Amino acid sequence: MPLTAAEIYAGLVRATETRPSAEPSPSQSERWSPGASRFREDPFREKNETLDGVLSFIEPDDVVLDVGGGAGRYLPLALKCRRLVNVEPSAGMGAQFEAAVKDAKIANAEWLHSDWLGAQIEGEVCFTANVVYYIADIVPFVEKLTTAARRRVMVIMHSIPPTNIGANLHRLVYGREPALAPSHRELLPVLWDMGLLPDVRVLGPSDFIVERARFAGREEAIQSALPAQLETSQLEFARENVERHFDEIFMESDGRYRRRPAPSRVLLITWETKTPAK
Ligand SMILES: C[S@@+](CC[C@H](N)C(=O)[O-])C[C@H]1O[C@@H](n2cnc3c(N)ncnc32)[C@H](O)[C@@H]1O
Repeated sequence: MPLTAAEIYAGLVRATETRPSAEPSPSQSERWSPGASRFREDPFREKNETLDGVLSFIEPDDVVLDVGGGAGRYLPLALKCRRLVNVEPSAGMGAQFEAAVKDAKIANAEWLHSDWLGAQIEGEVCFTANVVYYIADIVPFVEKLTTAARRRVMVIMHSIPPTNIGANLHRLVYGREPALAPSHRELLPVLWDMGLLPDVRVLGPSDFIVERARFAGREEAIQSALPAQLETSQLEFARENVERHFDEIFMESDGRYRRRPAPSRVLLITWETKTPAK
């Protein structure tokens, strides 16, 4: 029997959990808490194609659930809706979110410390950005998004998932192909099998942590590419490879170095749920 779309999806997620670069950890909290501050972004930042696209679906009276909202990169939603609830299992991410809310003096945003499947909450809109790549059991996760949303579900994925951006580097460091996280290509068949017919909007260029990082010099850039947990012989192999292929991975930008940008775009996958009462 051929695998279902959901089984294919689960297989991809599980493979990424066991790849050498994945941080092995038993819980979402431990997995995401280190480095959670990197996920913060100014809620009052200038609007761009991505924020405009997302905000166009939000209405002033909406309660918006930001599922796995992390440190609040999508806090600008709170500036357009009645209430925003970040349903987030990671304690580190939640703490960063609360700090971001306090610093920005945003009064209508709060953190609900919970995994999505365990959360007892509903809203007009269920929004989730850069989370579904990590959800092996995707069908119940999506079912709950649909039942908890009184009007609309919005799923943000990047056309190249952030964890796949480093695939070329992974080959150089480990000398083998990385397991690739699922993208929209794998999620959409799951949604179609569930009887959903979402709209897919291509928004702005992806601008996430890896894309934004800048390094003062070549050595700092090389160090950023070498995982801390490598053994000495592996480290020598990796370093030699990264140095040899430096110009394929990095480029100069304003006197500093950055990763060469991948042609990744932000995708908004969205569908309506129940017809709102008149
Ligand atoms: C890559 S971060 C994205 C954070 C934020 N949405 C953003 O775009 O910056 C993935 C987030 O998903 C959260 N997450 C993972 N599994 C989850 C689940 N089952 N329920 C809710 N959140 C989850 C993690 O704790 C983490 O904060």
